[in-house]
Amino acid sequence: MAPDTAFCLYYWVRELSPKFIVESGTWRGFSTWVMRQAAPEAKIVSLDPIFALGHCLDSAKIGPGYWPADLERAGMDFSCCGFEFMVKPEPSLVLFDDHQHKIHRLQQAIQKGFQHIVFDDNLPGEATHLTFFRYLRDPAIKEWMEQVVDRFEIFPPLWDTQAGRSNEIFVPGLNIPRDPELACLDTTAQPRSGYTWLTYVRVKDSALAARHDPATVT
Ligand SMILES: C[S@@+](CC[C@H](N)C(=O)[O-])C[C@H]1O[C@@H](n2cnc3c(N)ncnc32)[C@H](O)[C@@H]1O
Repeated sequence: MAPDTAFCLYYWVRELSPKFIVESGTWRGFSTWVMRQAAPEAKIVSLDPIFALGHCLDSAKIGPGYWPADLERAGMDFSCCGFEFMVKPEPSLVLFDDHQHKIHRLQQAIQKGFQHIVFDDNLPGEATHLTFFRYLRDPAIKEWMEQVVDRFEIFPPLWDTQAGRSNEIFVPGLNIPRDPELACLDTTAQPRSGYTWLTYVRVKDSALAARHDPATVT
């Protein structure tokens, strides 16, 4: 996660003040550190297959990570977590930075009762996974999303930028005043922009309630 995207994540975590955070896709823990700064009291659970493969990895090659002892880490996939998240402090938040198809993650998060979800890498172009830009072209999926989502916000870049795999897409920014102290958040001049369409999704109360309705179980 690049610094400009980290700023967007920091914004959402401050805005939502979660008490419980699940992070799917941790790598060396930069996003974990960002969320810890934004919500110091929140319990964080980090999921990444690297935690299951730790013994096979050369830690010298991985380098230092932010994996503090009070943080729960597991190598299992979010889809496999069940009763762990049935009862959780609210508000709770899940961050997906794991390059998995977005719609499945949205369904799984709803099923586990998460109302606040942040997705990284929800880009309009080609990606390693399917993004909401692609799914929303399908009328049936669009209709389902309208039924279950009541807020869908893609955080704009702080300044106009070129983004995408080869910086091929122009994305208009907020264009906040330039300040030398904020220069570290500007990846515009980098070979590849760090802007990755961080997206906040809030699930409707009705969609969460429907999980407990036997009539909706097929
Ligand atoms: C872009 S990196 C995460 C970067 C991290 N959030 C940060 O800010 O530094 C993507 C990570 O997703 C992990 N990953 C791949 N498949 C996953 C899965 N099914 N569940 C969780 N994490 C997964 C990879 O191992 C990798 O560490």
